[in-house]
Amino acid sequence: MLVYFNGKIRNKDEVRISPDDRGFVFGDGVYEVILSYKGRLFRAGAHFERLRRSLKELRIRDPELKVLRNVADKLIHENHLDQKIATVYIQISRGAAPRKHFFPAENTPVSVYAAASPFDPPEEEWKQGTSVILLPDNRWLRCDIKSTSLLPNVMACQQAKEAGAKEAVFIRDGAVTEGSHSSFAAVFKGTLHTCPESHYILPGITRQLVLKLCPEMNIPVSLYPIQESHLQNADECMLLGTTTEVMPVVRINEQQVGDGRPGPVTRRLQQALRKMIRGE
Ligand code: PDD
Repeated sequence: MLVYFNGKIRNKDEVRISPDDRGFVFGDGVYEVILSYKGRLFRAGAHFERLRRSLKELRIRDPELKVLRNVADKLIHENHLDQKIATVYIQISRGAAPRKHFFPAENTPVSVYAAASPFDPPEEEWKQGTSVILLPDNRWLRCDIKSTSLLPNVMACQQAKEAGAKEAVFIRDGAVTEGSHSSFAAVFKGTLHTCPESHYILPGITRQLVLKLCPEMNIPVSLYPIQESHLQNADECMLLGTTTEVMPVVRINEQQVGDGRPGPVTRRLQQALRKMIRGE
């Protein structure tokens, strides 16, 4: 497998990352995951824009992101993924330096890694729907930054897995924020509800697209936090994300959502997004 590391495309086995790398020591880095459908990166511009913002917020030096855009295309091609569904993972850390909490010297080069991998779409789950559990949101207060420091997300997702669920959905101050690796939305009487953008959630690119699709499809939208206590009245629930697309949620904590089957608004959005991604 060919990957990109610090300026060169090389075999993954040949990549050597310093144990002093701040990504390794502190989780001091940012990342993006982009879907590639048959060689075409979906919403690459938005992903690179978010990457630029994450870097800026964490004051990590901006490597040439234009170069990285070409690298992403090259990785798809060189790994023979042009006719497949794949993901491109990009990670930038603050570089390698002796362990000190404060930033390393100005001239410390950032570490840049990118890889493309085949993606197996969860077709059956998209059809049948999936289940989630609710957990307290114990993440930091800058969830809008796509940082590689993901320990609370990892712990929550593992807890979901052990409970036989796909995703953990976080609750902060009695309201739903988002999933451990996806955005969350619910439908009440035909209106799509999702929490507004803030430091409590990642500005999901799929969420943004769905919010743009809704008015075009005559689906009203409400951008207010969904109270946990109201979730049981939701007619439909869904997870949104780059690899999740529009995933119907049919069970929350063992309780059925609506009639236990993916609902009509979810289905319509799922199809509309699918059409955009696949150009159907
Ligand atoms: N996760 N919220 C969180 C916490 C996420 O990690 C993600 C994406 C999303 C959805 O964002 P987008 O639609 O831009 O993919 C929301 C990626 C895929 C991951 O960590 O693998």
